[in-house]
Amino acid sequence: MKVLVSDKLGEKGLAVLKKEKKITCDVKTGMKPDELKEVIKGYDGIVIRSSTKLTKDILEGANNLKVIGRAGVGVDNVDLETASKKGIIVMNTPGGNTVSTCEHTIAMIMALSRNIPQADASLRKKEWKRSQFLGTEVYGKTLGIVGFGRIGKEVAKRMLSFGMKIIVYDPFISPDTSPQLEVEVVDINELCKRSDYITVHTPKTAETKYLFKKETFALMKDSVRIINCARGGIVSEADLYEAIKSGKVKGAALDVFETEPPYESPLLSLDQVIVVPHLGASTEEAQENVGIAVAEQVVDALLGRGIKNAVNLPSFDPDTMNVLRPWVHLSERLGTFVTQFSGGEGLKRISIKYSGEVTNFQLSALTLSVIKGVLAPMLEDNEINYVNAPIIAKERGIEVIESKSSQLGDFSNAIAIEIQTGIKVTTVVGTLFGNNSPRIVRINDYHIDAVLEGVMLCIHNQDIPGMVGEIGTMLGTSNVNIAEMSLGRKKEGDVAITIINTDQVIPNEILEKIKKLKNIVGAIVVSFS
Ligand code: NAD
Ligand code: MLT
Repeated sequence: MKVLVSDKLGEKGLAVLKKEKKITCDVKTGMKPDELKEVIKGYDGIVIRSSTKLTKDILEGANNLKVIGRAGVGVDNVDLETASKKGIIVMNTPGGNTVSTCEHTIAMIMALSRNIPQADASLRKKEWKRSQFLGTEVYGKTLGIVGFGRIGKEVAKRMLSFGMKIIVYDPFISPDTSPQLEVEVVDINELCKRSDYITVHTPKTAETKYLFKKETFALMKDSVRIINCARGGIVSEADLYEAIKSGKVKGAALDVFETEPPYESPLLSLDQVIVVPHLGASTEEAQENVGIAVAEQVVDALLGRGIKNAVNLPSFDPDTMNVLRPWVHLSERLGTFVTQFSGGEGLKRISIKYSGEVTNFQLSALTLSVIKGVLAPMLEDNEINYVNAPIIAKERGIEVIESKSSQLGDFSNAIAIEIQTGIKVTTVVGTLFGNNSPRIVRINDYHIDAVLEGVMLCIHNQDIPGMVGEIGTMLGTSNVNIAEMSLGRKKEGDVAITIINTDQVIPNEILEKIKKLKNIVGAIVVSFS
């Protein structure tokens, strides 16, 4: 496996990548998009910070790429849609730089209140202008926090101890989200009207782009101060410039910019604005944290040891994953079985019904596994994975319906999959037996008990004496050994179903001969690689 590190990564993170024998790691920073587009083609994984932009154009040609590891939080520099379509896992390292970015925000609030960079620059010019740099206390002032996630909360905690009143706006939290913190949850308009300082800590999304623009500034208190240590483009730089010029906004402290570096930004000409080059996470501690975390995550994902912090896959804590793992296996096997058994042509709908104790878990990983299992026999090897399975289903117009039932039926836990093609509906039910062995226990109206493993010869036959012996002899003459067998019938003498698990692959000519036997209605081989 080859990993490319295309932005500067902490030494300890690099060491994690380099010590892994099955991984070759190359560091190549500062590439232009055209160069990266070519270079990336040879890699299985890439580690980036915020400078590398993984655009649609670059990702579309990255046919070997399996994992993108972002050393940091924001993944706005990755085209997530293209990555997901190509089945590339995108993972970030949340939490590793929270404290650093929070402390940086506080440094910016204080620098803005006391004009520290401006006063420093003035004194270096041999000026002693004490009255020009009259500051303001934060004590007793109102701080509006937009985005109350990891960083927003840490900022609130610390600024409460400075005696600030904290109001927050975050549409994705409930009002009592942090009862231990004395903060008031308000809407964005109220936050604008009441805040003396506004600091933003949201990701950059379609909703947050230009969240602060002319109209929002108009709502704000006169002489408000703005801090952005989240992402450039959440605050409109052109409108902020006007708002500062008009005196509406007293000053701004910016760590991030619409274009980085922001050499052309008019804001750089204003004395009221403090600017630094995206330093929020630039501490020894944060870089070590995110460097090690991203390297470990990328290694684990590439070597199949587990996926953590994927932003385009549901994530689970390790304990839940340990419980779910055999169910994930069963779901995928059952999905693969039903497609091979039914033919799968013209697949329109996959309905999945979970029943029993398994319904106590978050079922998204199982549903993903069913979709992957159902689609896999229709696609080239390695074309499908957990990331792109739902996207491929959607692109093919396949509807996926997930439901839960508290009714136990014959088993304490079961997964039923019904697939509807243009011509027929096929239903299978599976469960786990004591040793976590995945079993299929129903095919349409037939009750059976077969292990979902290896090669499965599935036969519809007339329920008459001698059938099994005849088939067994045919397999035996081709040196195909029967490992297990299961019979299901609705009533004596009717059409029955026979499932024979074999230790060897069944040669095609033998299958054709079996199909031609008298009293055989149909035969198909289902296999798991
Ligand atoms: P987080 O996911 O813990 O918190 C983000 C919060 O924003 C969430 O609570 C979410 O509900 C909220 N949010 C989302 N959309 C919103 C909207 N439209 N309006 C209001 N709130 C909204 O992330 P975090 O670790 O706190 O980081 C926040 C952002 O800070 C990151 O997305 C990243 O872009 C940026 N960041 C910058 C630096 C830096 O170096 N300057 C460092 C770390 C993170
Ligand atoms: C982040 O989103 O984590 C920051 O922008 C930090 C960084 O890229 O260094």
